[in-house]
Amino acid sequence: MVAKPPSSMAASIAVATGDAIIDADHVAFEVLIDEAAAADDARLGAALKRLRRHLVEHFEQEDVMMAETRFPAAGFHRGDHEKVLARIDRAIADNAGGNPRAVRTFLEDELPVWFVGHVATLDAVTVHWARTGVLGF
Ligand SMILES: [Fe+2]
Ligand SMILES: [Fe+2]
Repeated sequence: MVAKPPSSMAASIAVATGDAIIDADHVAFEVLIDEAAAADDARLGAALKRLRRHLVEHFEQEDVMMAETRFPAAGFHRGDHEKVLARIDRAIADNAGGNPRAVRTFLEDELPVWFVGHVATLDAVTVHWARTGVLGF
């Protein structure tokens, strides 16, 4: 069964940084959010772990880009990555503790909102800096 994607995810498709690899990773992340939101309770834990694994690998790529280009706000950008990973760990714990409803609210509302904001600000500025050496737009 294919679940209807959360409406907030559809909006995120419009967000592009202009870096093909990063943007493809972001689309893959949207798919993983949708899959997790559509997973039944028995599969929710595994879907959350896939989501987390994808993010860890993706954040490592952004770390490399920031290090290679000496991005001035790298610490701030990394801090936001760490915060969302900690939030996903809380969702994993909620699910393991028998509260999948809290996890679904996180997946359908909180995480997509974070994602859209993060990509449109920190990721977009990072890619712009990597290409131009200029902060901002
Ligand atoms: Fe990203
Ligand atoms: Fe990022």
